[in-house]
Amino acid sequence: MGETIQVNDVTTIEQQGDIALICIDNPPVNATGLAVREGLQKALAQLNAEGSAKVIALYCAGRTFIAGADIREFGKPPQAPSLPDVIDAIEDSPLPVISVIHGTALGGGFEVAMGTHARIAIPGARIGLPEVLLGILPGAGGTQRLPRLAGIPFALDLAVSGRHVPVAEAQEKGAIDRIMEGAPRDVALKAAQEVLDGTLATRRTRDLTTDAADDAVSATLAMVTKKNPHLVNLQKCVESIAASTLPLADGLAVERQKFMECMETPQRSGMIHAFFGERAVSNIPEAKGATRDLKKIGVIGGGTMGSGISTSCLMAGIPVRLVEVAQDGLDRGVQTITKNLDGAVSRGKMSAEKRDAALAMLEPSLAMEDLADVDLVIEAVFEKMEIKKEIFGKLNTICKDGAILASNTSYLDVNEIAESTDRPQDVLGLHFFSPAHVMRLLEIVQGAKTADDVLATGFALAKKLKKVGVLAQVCDGFIGNRILGHYSKTASYLVLDGATPQQVDDALEAFGFAMGPHKVGDLAGLDIGYMTRQRKREEGMDPNERYAGRVADLIVEEGWKGRKTGKGYYVYDAGAPVPNEAVEDIIAKVRQENGITAKDFSDQEIVDRYMTAMIVEAARVVEDGTAKRPLDVDMVFLFGYGFPRFRGGPLHYADTIGAAELVKRIETYAKEDAHYWQVPAILRKMADEGTTFADLNG
Ligand code: 3HC
Repeated sequence: MGETIQVNDVTTIEQQGDIALICIDNPPVNATGLAVREGLQKALAQLNAEGSAKVIALYCAGRTFIAGADIREFGKPPQAPSLPDVIDAIEDSPLPVISVIHGTALGGGFEVAMGTHARIAIPGARIGLPEVLLGILPGAGGTQRLPRLAGIPFALDLAVSGRHVPVAEAQEKGAIDRIMEGAPRDVALKAAQEVLDGTLATRRTRDLTTDAADDAVSATLAMVTKKNPHLVNLQKCVESIAASTLPLADGLAVERQKFMECMETPQRSGMIHAFFGERAVSNIPEAKGATRDLKKIGVIGGGTMGSGISTSCLMAGIPVRLVEVAQDGLDRGVQTITKNLDGAVSRGKMSAEKRDAALAMLEPSLAMEDLADVDLVIEAVFEKMEIKKEIFGKLNTICKDGAILASNTSYLDVNEIAESTDRPQDVLGLHFFSPAHVMRLLEIVQGAKTADDVLATGFALAKKLKKVGVLAQVCDGFIGNRILGHYSKTASYLVLDGATPQQVDDALEAFGFAMGPHKVGDLAGLDIGYMTRQRKREEGMDPNERYAGRVADLIVEEGWKGRKTGKGYYVYDAGAPVPNEAVEDIIAKVRQENGITAKDFSDQEIVDRYMTAMIVEAARVVEDGTAKRPLDVDMVFLFGYGFPRFRGGPLHYADTIGAAELVKRIETYAKEDAHYWQVPAILRKMADEGTTFADLNG
């Protein structure tokens, strides 16, 4: 090893004869924060000034090459040198500079590499421009240099999808010059020697030109505008790539302008909140520490949920013993799992061989006794407390010591279930969302007596299943369904008071939800809400509550349960669903029964009321500790309820409105219904003190 000079905390130079190595060491992912930018700039200036080396090779320590700009700096005042300036300095360097990529070279990381004069990758590495997933676009030359290296169509593909591309594919397109085996430092020395020997060519990307690709540009623009009309960064990204036919300085100016516009949008802040939130939900003491084995899982119930959960476990390579009470139910379960796995194969999520291997790990059984040796049982049967208690009582006698007993209940009291065993410390709730092999949310429900290692194993399971595990405390509906139970009434009240179901759906879809609440109801089956309302009626309705379910009740009583019966709020023939005209008569009848005169609601008012109701219950869920932090609520909604990612989640969105404005709105609505619209104490306090939900995220 040659002498190593520490340029700054994260940058070193090491000289070996004519070769100078610059190493970046900025864990965890070598993001180009201020120190990295300064280090790179200084190292380059120093090496060029000294003139003792003939070639410079840049590589990184740790698990990856530079994985991007430091996202934590976004939204704060910029500090020089900027990344584009550093990359210009690399490209301008009189000494040739090559880069050695291992792990992932993403965003600003790949942009740094494109500023170097040759890119060498280690097998297994990936490159990408994932900025669009953060609500921005590549802002350090990526939209200009990638088209010069690999053509506009490839640049569009990469920057619009944000996908991480294997380096072999990138080499084929021209974005990578050479693939070499070895450790990053060794490859850096080897490749630099080849530059000296003249067997590895170097060139400046800025000297290349690219051909216009008008068809690809207009097709991509049309696609992003249709598919994601809210994501303005996608359109700007395409336009910026189209500008790569201009001289580099002009193209870079277009890119910078559009990048800065994106940085100012709320969608940038929403999507970055989503990025960090996804990681922060499991960054809590409850998710860490010792865990129990998860070698074999038992699932009770072969219905939609049980089959989906089994599919998810099998896809993660965990053997499953599926138990049902009757042969036909068991057969249906196996069929559903097979269909789910076939679907994963046809969607390109798994190979046919993997599917066969997964199916071979499925053991169907009609005997609960067969669960004696599993490490974790997930009960996914009908939502009736009596049935669950009976099952847990049996599991108590059947399961081995230390086995974890989980219920997939969506709202029942996990403590009451736990008390039907002699081992409440082994019991927790694992609430999956349908379809369980697709939806990424897993609510991990902590009972009063759940042991620490049982809870941590819940998080370990979420990780194995590639799900987002969120800690929730026991209450009716936990985090998500409890909040849903509250705000979904707003959609019904809006219809009772004058809006049409379609208007409500359209307004909320324009806000960013994939589907409005009435379409979701039709999809899920209107009979499900009907049964829940019946249960609540049996438990005793709050006499002060305005009943929201009458229209839906009458629709179900007509035999219209939504999509599965061809009719619900909408009629489902071939083609796009159309509003069910008969529902208009039902609505008119219910208005008449209640002496309601219909009024007009603007789309904005529909969104405001719906979102305010969601925020109200979400605030209460944080206030009483059902959710640990506001960000946990946000992730529940992003990963389980189709909440638009670019808005960050209900409580991130709440901060964009502000507590004072929300309190004002609630007090206005309360003039119509003081029971439903009440200001949560936490929100009033925030309004008084001028604080935000973000302040509570820690
Ligand atoms: N900035 C700051 N922190 C980052 C980061 C970044 N770009 N990328 C990852 N991190 C942090 C994570 O928050 C996490 O922190 P934590 O341990 O405190 O929770 C830690 O690094 C490890 O990240 P992961 O848990 O995600 O680790 P994985 O190994 O699963 O994944 C990865 C690694 C593939 C690099 C993944 O982190 C990733 O996709 N990162 C984002 C990459 C990206 O979007 N780059 C573009 C940034 S924008 C840009 O470059 C703008 C430019 O064009 C000007």
